Amino acid sequence: MRYKLLLKKILVFPFRKVKEVLCHFKYKKEISKIYKNNFIWSAQIGIVDDVGVKRGLKMSETIINSISNAFKIDLKYNQTKIDSKYFNIFPGEHYRILAGLIEYEKPKTIIDIGTSSGMSSRIMLDYSNKDSEIVTFDLIRWDKFDSHLNKNDFKDSRLTQYLDDLSNIETFKKHLILIDKADLIFLDAPKDGIFEYLFVKNLAKSKLSNKKRFLILDDIKFLNMVKLWRSIKSPKFDITSFGHASGTGLVDISSNIELDPIAFI
Ligand SMILES: C[S@@+](CC[C@H](N)C(=O)[O-])C[C@H]1O[C@@H](n2cnc3c(N)ncnc32)[C@H](O)[C@@H]1O
Repeated sequence: MRYKLLLKKILVFPFRKVKEVLCHFKYKKEISKIYKNNFIWSAQIGIVDDVGVKRGLKMSETIINSISNAFKIDLKYNQTKIDSKYFNIFPGEHYRILAGLIEYEKPKTIIDIGTSSGMSSRIMLDYSNKDSEIVTFDLIRWDKFDSHLNKNDFKDSRLTQYLDDLSNIETFKKHLILIDKADLIFLDAPKDGIFEYLFVKNLAKSKLSNKKRFLILDDIKFLNMVKLWRSIKSPKFDITSFGHASGTGLVDISSNIELDPIAFI
């Protein structure tokens, strides 16, 4: 009887083992298929899997001081404007960190992409030195909105608006001298999954002079922005907790912007 049992084990065991290996193989194949077909970009970033984050540590002084300023700043604005209430939402909105960064870094040339009702341009005008210049881009004229800007802001050429689309390479080239001169670029345009990618691509393709220059990217937590944000290899820092709840990214583009081409696949 015991011999019978032993013989059964000897015969059944290898058979079971082979079956197990085959099942594992099939399972692994299925899993990798699911992974490939459903791969999604994750907003999760870490030093190990994102070189830009590691490099971003060099911006610590700028970040700490801008945040410290943002905690203290109290923005006072025209209460009759319907969107004024957003200025002082902190954290949650990006206006105080924008003002805080401008106060600390004192940029001389600022580019604001996406004028809309002029809230970001207003901050730029009020928190930068009086000899600085602010250039804002939109496809719609500033005075078509219930704007925080007024005609006087444009009088002494401190503020200029261009109705130009910087995702177009020819238009971008037209403004290259200005873009190269910029100390700060605030990118807050349509977030349609196209414009920001093309703008950043145009930036990456251009030869910019080496000087201190920052890019602030709004809405980096939007699903269609995650891939772009993750693909940036230049020094970067996610400052969402002190900026816009939908994501605020700070990138050091002093020596241009370095991108993983995977952003455009
Ligand atoms: C979120 S709003 C900008 C808000 C503004 N920065 C503020 O703080 O008040 C986005 C703006 O981007 C503009 N826009 C859309 N497509 C654009 C493009 N291709 N170039 C520049 N601006 C664009 C829209 O007309 C809109 O006014």
